[in-house]
Amino acid sequence: MIILGVETSCDETASAVIKADGKIVEVLSNTVSSQIKLHSRWGGVVPNLAAREHLKNIIPVIKKTLNSAKLSPNNIDLIAVTQGPGLIPALLIGTNAAKTLAYLWKKPLIGIHHIEGHIYANFLSEKISVISNFQFPISKQIQNSKIQKQTEIPKLKAKSSKIKFPILCLVVSGGHTQLVLMKKHLDYEIIGETLDDAAGEAFDKVARILGLGYPGGPAIAKAADIWTSDVQMQKGHPMSIHFPRPMIGSDNFNFSFSGLKTAVLYETKKRPALLKNKSYVSELCHEFQQAVIDVLVSKTIRAAKKYQPKTILLAGGVSANAELRNQLGEAVKRDLSEIKYYIPDTKYSLDNAAMIAAAAYYRYRSIKNKKALDKNWQSLEADASLKLK
Ligand code: KG4
Ligand code: ZN
Repeated sequence: MIILGVETSCDETASAVIKADGKIVEVLSNTVSSQIKLHSRWGGVVPNLAAREHLKNIIPVIKKTLNSAKLSPNNIDLIAVTQGPGLIPALLIGTNAAKTLAYLWKKPLIGIHHIEGHIYANFLSEKISVISNFQFPISKQIQNSKIQKQTEIPKLKAKSSKIKFPILCLVVSGGHTQLVLMKKHLDYEIIGETLDDAAGEAFDKVARILGLGYPGGPAIAKAADIWTSDVQMQKGHPMSIHFPRPMIGSDNFNFSFSGLKTAVLYETKKRPALLKNKSYVSELCHEFQQAVIDVLVSKTIRAAKKYQPKTILLAGGVSANAELRNQLGEAVKRDLSEIKYYIPDTKYSLDNAAMIAAAAYYRYRSIKNKKALDKNWQSLEADASLKLK
């Protein structure tokens, strides 16, 4: 079946079409119109500005998505839209656009929880290039050497059939930090979550303290990489900054990142002049990022030891962080080698609509009374604090 996804919960106007049949969940086209430039002036997302931009962009984005997949409305079997949580002025634009299209095109409509979408980004099939090698020796001058004629055959790899339940998913985004246990599709038990700031929110707030702009995650990751390469090249003078690893030893699976952000603030207040010093800022970013990763990795591994999942997944915008992706992978390999670890393609880590359409595919399959979805254009309502269930 062909599903059109729409996502406008925060500062990306996104739509996508996927083709889902059994094991293959293929993205036919994916459009994301980012508002980062607009909001970076304000140091964060301004809800009403976001809504104005969504309104301007939503129809062109959907049009572009359909055109690049060479599809017309007739080809669409189902429309999926982010129902919540998120910024209400932003959510209203996406839900109203989806409801209008569902009415005009006479299509069933499904509302999706944003975090459910992030989790299901992991189920999108990966495009891999299978390289077939034909090896043959060439001229006599280059004795024994071989040249490889390589033919690239793009192929879709079904991830969904490899992902076995129970699943433990670490969700890390700008608004959420949760450890979610899934015994089967669409079944969520939140076994731990942040008591204050989300991991992405901490990245954004620390970047603001350091004057690194919005969004903070990529800026901090980049600065942290500079510190790593400086240390490797024995440049710079490490000052041995140390930040706490909040709640790392607590006997539950909850998180807290607001104290860590305050620790960064105190450190910068101690040495304000050094904020202009690149190597100080990059060391600070490295230590902050490592503190967040240490807590996330340690709690995920501990939860996995307790709940014994077959698969660990990573989801949400912070899952684009290369160090987190690698370090969690290393820890799973080292401590729990029998558990499989999957991460989404980075392009589907951040907000997008392909993940919303993927989640809708699994929801649609589970719904007995599919006819009821035809009336959703009337009844679906955006919900800023929608709960994952
Ligand atoms: O999932 P997402 O796109 O939006 C929400 O649902 O909140 O996540 C956005 C968050 C932001 O806080 C951003 O700073 C963070 O993800 N982020 C990162 C990276 N890329 C985005 N955090 C750490 N490292 C990154 N590379
Ligand atoms: Zn998100």
